Amino acid sequence: MSLRVDGFLYSNIYLVANLQHMNISENVGLKPYNTFGINANSKYFTTLTTPADIPALLTSKLFERERHLILGGGSNVLFTNDYDGLVAIVELKGIKIIDEDDNAITLHAGAGENWHSFVTYCVNNNYGGVENLSLIPGTTGAAPMQNIGAYGTEIKDVIIAVEAVEIQTGDHKIFSKEACEFGYRESIFKQKAFDKYIITGVHLRLTKRNHKLNIQYGAISDTLKSMNIASPTIKDISEAVMHIRRTKLPDPAKIGNAGSFFKNPSIPSIQYNELKNQHPNIPSFPSQEGLIKIPAGWLIEQCGWKGKTFDKIGVHANQALVIVNYGGGEGQSIWALAMKIQQSVEDKFKITLQPEVNVIK
Ligand code: FAD
Ligand code: EPU
Repeated sequence: MSLRVDGFLYSNIYLVANLQHMNISENVGLKPYNTFGINANSKYFTTLTTPADIPALLTSKLFERERHLILGGGSNVLFTNDYDGLVAIVELKGIKIIDEDDNAITLHAGAGENWHSFVTYCVNNNYGGVENLSLIPGTTGAAPMQNIGAYGTEIKDVIIAVEAVEIQTGDHKIFSKEACEFGYRESIFKQKAFDKYIITGVHLRLTKRNHKLNIQYGAISDTLKSMNIASPTIKDISEAVMHIRRTKLPDPAKIGNAGSFFKNPSIPSIQYNELKNQHPNIPSFPSQEGLIKIPAGWLIEQCGWKGKTFDKIGVHANQALVIVNYGGGEGQSIWALAMKIQQSVEDKFKITLQPEVNVIK
């Protein structure tokens, strides 16, 4: 059975609205579209595969009427319910050279490019700057959202601009790096521009020679030593980072997760000194002026959560900052566990952890 409403063709189980060759489906399971593997349904669902899909979607009556969620690889979201609106997956592809000289190259990457594939493309072409960000899941377009970071590098170090379409007006905008207001796991797109733009592409400036190698952070130099590499190339660094990540972080293809559930908190040095007296082994990193960053994973481990399982969900045994779904876990249960973890850290350390994952209610 099917019916027409607002010019769209509805069927009782499945809707296919043709917006200038763009299909909108109804009641679509989101499990393949979020790395937590949550079995939520979306009332409406579409993919944005060409630039023309964006104005077609934004001017549709369905888009005006329904709440919406713009999604990339779904590796930083937690669905706590079915999504009572439209989910649009950004799949705009393509890597283009904007300009280059002997020393550096500026690339444009479509927002729907898989981030790690983009990193691999750069490493294979000897374009330096993103090798420390190897194996981070998700899309290139979502990367500026939270200014992805790992092993001493953040995407802000190589981004020169972000292209986006304003949802309300359909206008194309280019955000300079400064306009993106990047911070630790932050950008304007998570703050005052939240939900206002569809990111369509990213401009990145990469080195072609005299690469600034960054091997100071964490286990990279030890890993390179164990690989018998004294003068690493960007490819060696990429491989070392991938090796470290594979030992610590669960592969979402096997165990559902969204990486670090919380951000690492920064606390005033007075509070840090008190904690250090009680816990002489507390790890710490320098943060903004007057603040000290404490690994949330350590705080959570100290509260006894590491490796604990609760039916279908749990806290990863190798990294306490990662909440996992062993299969069939529900978004509500994961969120409830996260809130218990948050409360226990607050009770023990007087530190309030802030979720890094985007919780969709
Ligand atoms: P999604 O989860 O699809 O979306 C994330 C947010 O961005 C949502 O609010 C969504 O609405 C918005 N969004 C997505 N695309 C667009 C767009 N084109 N326009 C507008 N808004 C958009 N992160 C790190 O920083 N460092 C790490 O080391 C790291 N390691 C991880 C390891 C694992 C195993 C996993 C599962 C995750 C890890 N993450 C890490 C988190 C995640 O990979 C990143 O945040 C990634 O950038 C999310 O990309 P995505 O395409 O999956 O975004
Ligand atoms: N630690 C513990 N117990 C744990 C986990 C960590 O004590 O179970 C302590 C250890 O002292 C360890 C320190 O925390 O040395 C740091 O741990 P790790 O190197 O694993 O990094 P992290 O601070 O837990 C951050 C990012 C990761 C990123 C890594 C590597 C955040 C919230 N997370 O994790 O990003 O890959 O550094 O740079 O900043 C993500 O954002 O999803 C993510 C995975």
